[in-house]
Amino acid sequence: MEKRNTFNGKIGFVLAAAGSAVGLGNLWRFPYLAAKYGGGIFLLVYIILAVTFGTVLMITEIAIGRRTQLSPLAAFKALSPKWGWVGKLATFVPVLIFPYYCLIGGWVTKYTFAMLTDAESTVADSYFGNYVSATGEPLIWFLIFLIITTLVVVFGVNNGIEKLSKVLMPLLLIITVALAVFVILRPGAKAGIRYYLMPNFSQLSFKTFLAALGQLFYSMSLAMGIMITYGSYFSKEEKITKAAHQIEIFDTVIAFLAGLMIIPAVFEFSGGDKDALSAGPSLMFVTLPKVFNAMPGGRIIGALFFFLVLFAALTSSVSILEAIVSGIIDTFNMKRLTATLIVAVYGLILGTVCSFGFGIWKDFTILGFDILDFLDFVSNSIMLPLVGMLTCVVVGFVVKPDIIVFEIELNGPFKMKRYYYTMVKWIAPVFIFAILISGILQSLGILKI
Ligand code: TRP
Repeated sequence: MEKRNTFNGKIGFVLAAAGSAVGLGNLWRFPYLAAKYGGGIFLLVYIILAVTFGTVLMITEIAIGRRTQLSPLAAFKALSPKWGWVGKLATFVPVLIFPYYCLIGGWVTKYTFAMLTDAESTVADSYFGNYVSATGEPLIWFLIFLIITTLVVVFGVNNGIEKLSKVLMPLLLIITVALAVFVILRPGAKAGIRYYLMPNFSQLSFKTFLAALGQLFYSMSLAMGIMITYGSYFSKEEKITKAAHQIEIFDTVIAFLAGLMIIPAVFEFSGGDKDALSAGPSLMFVTLPKVFNAMPGGRIIGALFFFLVLFAALTSSVSILEAIVSGIIDTFNMKRLTATLIVAVYGLILGTVCSFGFGIWKDFTILGFDILDFLDFVSNSIMLPLVGMLTCVVVGFVVKPDIIVFEIELNGPFKMKRYYYTMVKWIAPVFIFAILISGILQSLGILKI
């Protein structure tokens, strides 16, 4: 068998894994969920889940990858032939995410250009709604984003992208910090800062847990095979636990800053009324133009910011497509180009359906969700927790956690060993299961707490 390349040193690995993890999940999805689910209480639940279940799963996946040196599909089969289907389930998640991820990538592309050409109009509350409900225009931007993603995967120019991302990702971090500082210094931001940072326990519900858990897995690309793949390229010389912590911290800091940049601005510019806070997917697009409008040089800063978000979204969409394509090649033994084109056409069709869900098919809903929200709910709130739980069950009971512990101890003592055993066998699967069931029942309106 051909030897797998490994990343040069730990920083190379951490940057690559973090670069793929940081994307629309941090910048677009985290702030709107935090705003919708009570601000500080969502942040608190998110952080608690991240340091407990997030860490356990991140360590487990990287270790499975490094231990088996296989893709997720083959890795689960190698761990246990009977449980190989968990790998299939994990690989299926990116299939669900890809179409709508590219549609939102298209929204970001549109806003990058709108900032340059027509910044004044983007400030109006109706601008975003008019844009997404149109039939043709969102499809054009969506197509542009989808084609770029496909071209990168077909021509394998990942190296160039990786070099670019070493410059652009730090720039994104810097500009996000600067915007957050600008926003929190605004006169009307205080109430928003309080809302975002002070947990209000009366807003806590099962739905909060489920939303935070799904978001955690989505944002850190967990429970979908991605970190197993990265783990298979991770050097045997480096500490898995340390790398896992660094990826998690990086990903969480970006999400936290995105919230700090957007949520206080909702209070400043929209008075923090309930409708504005529960705006959902539109939150970033309706809020940020107002921030840029209020700052000197806002057009240029706005265009630059959306461009950097676009770049982050692109690096993620490329790795989502890559994950699907390599799964197809492994399973069906198909040519790379054929597989990529099939997935691109599939993405085009389903993404178009999602886009129409905001316009001509607005009245079509599934269980009260519009089409994009439904896909998002199924992939993030059902599939991810399910795969996360099953991964713990396979590791905890089928192959036994010793395999993971052994892999980690190759690079020195595993300080959290006892804790890890308890978590992966009992606490994580039981709690994830409880969160999954109660959250779904509540989301469907069956359970009311
Ligand atoms: N984690 C990415 C983000 O925050 C999104 C994502 C989901 C992803 N699945 C992925 C990225 C697979 C890379 C590979 O936006």
